[in-house]
Amino acid sequence: MVILMSEQMENYMEDLRKWLAETADLEPEEMADFFSNRLSGYEQHMAVWEQSYQRFAGLLPKGCRNVLDLGCGTGLELDRIWQKYPDLCVTGVDLCPEMLKELEKKHPEKQLTTVCTDYFQYDLGCNRWDAVISFESLHHFLPDAKGELYQKIHASLKEGGVFLLGDYTACCEEEETLLRSEYQKRRKRFGIPENQFIHFDIPLTLEHELALLRKAGFRAEKVLDAPNEATLITAEKVK
Ligand SMILES: C[S@@+](CC[C@H](N)C(=O)[O-])C[C@H]1O[C@@H](n2cnc3c(N)ncnc32)[C@H](O)[C@@H]1O
Repeated sequence: MVILMSEQMENYMEDLRKWLAETADLEPEEMADFFSNRLSGYEQHMAVWEQSYQRFAGLLPKGCRNVLDLGCGTGLELDRIWQKYPDLCVTGVDLCPEMLKELEKKHPEKQLTTVCTDYFQYDLGCNRWDAVISFESLHHFLPDAKGELYQKIHASLKEGGVFLLGDYTACCEEEETLLRSEYQKRRKRFGIPENQFIHFDIPLTLEHELALLRKAGFRAEKVLDAPNEATLITAEKVK
């Protein structure tokens, strides 16, 4: 069966190929440096996702007490979540100390613990959280690493707990494959050590993301996959 791409998608892929060719000589920045170098304009830049932050906050089930936020940054999702649930107890994990300082500055009165570390290395614990959330962070990582993390998230949730993922997804398999191959090429070309994180987007298609979550044991459903909004997914740890 031949599936024709919509004109819009073809144009998008054409622009993406052009952009990749134009930026091929730029060395990717180390992840934490990328965000600390852009801290001053960060929240303004992310304001395009405002509607998605609102919707994301609305997905958190009532009655949650302990929430873990992976890649919390300055906490734009937490701003919205605390508006709805002011007494929520949050642990925010992020690699970038400057982003975490900004979050602490914004919410000195909240029940917040920040942990400056790589979430792949962080001990998420067992049956510990009512919800684990992550917004616009995991699209920087390869499927194998994400699959392992999803298993740890699953184990770390209480029964009936939920993982909420808000992120950007690839529009088609071609985009996913193209970006991943470019990511690997650039790492090789610039001799980037295996253990160093770089800021380069390698989103998965929605289908691939859901498959990884289901493989980790979740009942995962897409909630929203609309143009100009983040893709929102709920993944429940079923009893
Ligand atoms: C685009 S920002 C999103 C921040 C926040 N969730 C928001 O929506 O405003 C991505 C964040 O993920 C963090 N990050 C990326 N990889 C990480 C990792 N392996 N461990 C912890 N934090 C990570 C970055 O430092 C950055 O603060």
